[in-house]
Amino acid sequence: TVFISTTAAAASDQITNIFGANHSFFLFPRNFLFGTASSSYQFEGAYLADGKGLSNWDIFSHEPGNIVDGSNGDVAVDHYHRYHKDVELMEYIGINTFRFSISWARILPKGRFGNVNIAGIKHYDKLINALIEKGIQPFVSLTHYDIPQELEDRYGGWLSPQIREDFAYYASICFKHYGDRVKYWVTLNEPNVVAIRGYRSGIYPPARCSATFGNCSSGDSEREPFIAAHNMILAHAAAVNLYRAKYQGEQKGSIGIAMNTVWYEPISNSSQDKQAAQRAQSFYMNWFLDPIMFGKYPEEMENILGSLLPEFSDDRLQNGLDFIGINHYTSFYVKDCLYSTCVQGPCISKTEGYYLRTATKNNIPIGEPTEVDWIYVYPQGMEKMVTYLKNRYNNTPMFITENGFGEMHQAGSSINSFLNDDKRAEYMKCYLDSLVSAIRKGADVRGYIVWSLLDNFEWSSGYTTRFGLYHVDYTTLKRTPKSSAQWYKQFILNFTSFE
Ligand code: NOJ
Repeated sequence: TVFISTTAAAASDQITNIFGANHSFFLFPRNFLFGTASSSYQFEGAYLADGKGLSNWDIFSHEPGNIVDGSNGDVAVDHYHRYHKDVELMEYIGINTFRFSISWARILPKGRFGNVNIAGIKHYDKLINALIEKGIQPFVSLTHYDIPQELEDRYGGWLSPQIREDFAYYASICFKHYGDRVKYWVTLNEPNVVAIRGYRSGIYPPARCSATFGNCSSGDSEREPFIAAHNMILAHAAAVNLYRAKYQGEQKGSIGIAMNTVWYEPISNSSQDKQAAQRAQSFYMNWFLDPIMFGKYPEEMENILGSLLPEFSDDRLQNGLDFIGINHYTSFYVKDCLYSTCVQGPCISKTEGYYLRTATKNNIPIGEPTEVDWIYVYPQGMEKMVTYLKNRYNNTPMFITENGFGEMHQAGSSINSFLNDDKRAEYMKCYLDSLVSAIRKGADVRGYIVWSLLDNFEWSSGYTTRFGLYHVDYTTLKRTPKSSAQWYKQFILNFTSFE
């Protein structure tokens, strides 16, 4: 096998190859969910269909220079029209949950400033019904990076407190229409990534930053990521409070948030580097989860940022989620730059928490590098991440809302080179192995969702990066199962057992 399997704890160690010649089982809790993930802008296409409004990503991707291959999500993988077939692909694999996001601009083309678009409502009704008919639970995000452009134009999107109320209004429409059938709600997907890339490095809309970061021209990168984050946290809280007050009793679903997570390994045993790794988690992830769970920002952030950090006046913020969604792909080393001097690399400024993030130690990478520059295969990171969250947040229920492996599409790459993707299956197997180990030690993890069902639009990387279990030919939009789709099918069917 290519990657090193992680632990002795999982019975999977006996599987000698990724297709599992021996019968040994990964033991999961009862009712564990296995799924694949997607998002509206990356999958749907149909960007003007049936009364949809424009989103911030529609505008951003159409501006030359923003997407590496000059592409956009106008058509994407046309999931909007092909969802029925796509549900059959899911059925073939045998998953029991599908994670997707609702396009806010399909439901409310003008945000709060206009009517509900009935055609948009109907679209997701049909998708949800098609899933349920096949025994696949919808796992639904209310936003996955894309918001109506109208909200940007009118008041600056996440920078305005107005968005909290507007988000709750939108959420209530979704709860009301779909909550009878949707039992898993994610308010925001990776708000940490949106805050950093939208308002610090400027590589995602609304492309705000200043000269010290990135190369866009507008913004105040010192403060704006924290303002946007603050509004996201309070928008999340508003939606959760509303769900709990008006819908949850009857609908009996649960609601959470999906964070981008990185396992940060201290580069040495020094207490400074260990503290730096803690700081890295706080500045990246606990930034959102602490306020939602405990009503306040992490201490490290308060100490370093002082008045740069907005204050909470709303004391209702506490235990503000039913589950933590974990998007997890990669790990990095962290070196302290608060007590020692760092000369190069990302994340060394005050607003980033004074640490240096690096993939290597003595020139040896933390895990197998991949074709995607930010993914290092370090399966132990999964168990460490889940265990960290278990300890910090009192074993709140968790879902792995994303885990996956990307490959780069070079000009002239043949389809066959993508269909034989044992590396992807190997990656999934090792990460699942590590996950099972955390579960066996008591972590309350209730599902594992692969990014992604299909190759799709990978944001600034356009169509150059492929994460799918199914290959998509972008000329014909034909879907073809890769060997990893076959592996996942076999895994679910033959290599899982339940408590
Ligand atoms: C996280 C994001 O939620 C998703 O949209 C993206 O495609 C994957 N990671 C892979 O980068």
